[in-house]
Amino acid sequence: MSADGSPAGDVPLAIDVHGLNKHFGTKHVVRDFSLQVKRGEIYGFLGPNGSGKTTSIRMLCGLLTPDSGSGTCLGYDVIRDTAAIKREVGYMTQRFSLWEDLTIRENMDFVARMYGMRDRTTAVPAAIADLGLTSRQDQLAGSLSGGWKQRLALAACMLHRPKLLLLDEPTAGVDPKARREFWEEIHHLTATGLSVLVSTHYMDEAERCHRVAYMAYGRMLVNGTVDDVVRGQNLTTFAVSGPDLPAVSLKLQSEPGVGQVTPFGNTLHVTGPDGAALAAAIAELRGDARYRIEQVDTKLEDVFISLMAGVTDNFQ
Ligand SMILES: Nc1ncnc2c1ncn2[C@@H]1O[C@H](COP(=O)(O)OP(=O)(O)OP(=O)(O)O)[C@@H](O)[C@H]1O
Ligand SMILES: [Mg+2]
Repeated sequence: MSADGSPAGDVPLAIDVHGLNKHFGTKHVVRDFSLQVKRGEIYGFLGPNGSGKTTSIRMLCGLLTPDSGSGTCLGYDVIRDTAAIKREVGYMTQRFSLWEDLTIRENMDFVARMYGMRDRTTAVPAAIADLGLTSRQDQLAGSLSGGWKQRLALAACMLHRPKLLLLDEPTAGVDPKARREFWEEIHHLTATGLSVLVSTHYMDEAERCHRVAYMAYGRMLVNGTVDDVVRGQNLTTFAVSGPDLPAVSLKLQSEPGVGQVTPFGNTLHVTGPDGAALAAAIAELRGDARYRIEQVDTKLEDVFISLMAGVTDNFQ
């Protein structure tokens, strides 16, 4: 293990792809996508809606053929060996993909048959028991709550004992307790050598990953540990609290040196790339005793908003 808790540098790569591109019609939705994920690592995949995360994930698991580029997933060629990749990867799709009108047991049994699992008569009941759903196994999957659907979908994509999990927004719409339990499970699984690539829009989840990548308009803009990504942008942030914050926000946004102003409850985060220019922009407020101003750590969300401000939409 390295200092940040991720696997040490010399472990083999679960994902190693270079220069993948994908067009839909004339739309170039993934551009020169390169990614290296170590075995045993949890890699977070972030970016705004439509930035190309799902398309990239589908190229990694052999469901979509890249227009160009090359690489491997679990050592298999992403263009030629798609059948082998599908056998060894667990893919949890962005939308609930189990049959709502089949029971929990029928769904799990269906998945086990699809993977040709010889031990399915023992593996399926064991997985349902692990989930704590034995007494509810005859309930229709469609009648489960959001949190339970997500746990069932995770158990289904783990059933054939994959070596790599590709999870596409697995916790969207799930409550905080269920999300926490989900992440505990993911960390527990990676301790046994499983690798995980997980897309999310939640910053707290990004912070639970060993490394993250941020994508916008089909391009990966940054990647690394959360600390690397935050430090790499070299932004300064001041927190401002006091009266009339909406008016203060409007005024600050027009000041030179201010990159963005973001409300966080009763505080404004004022962020910019040049610390001195930012300090000059808030100097007038400092002279007003009603306002409290302090320099704070720049958050990952501040960094991502700043990155987005720096790119233009390539789509017509
Ligand atoms: N099968 C398809 N045919 C045509 N266009 C598509 C297809 N799949 C995706 N797209 C387009 O490709 C772009 C990237 O979509 P993708 O679903 O990969 O983004 P995403 O980052 O996963 O977004 P989200 O966060 O909303 O899930 C979007 O503009 C989308 O409309
Ligand atoms: Mg998506």
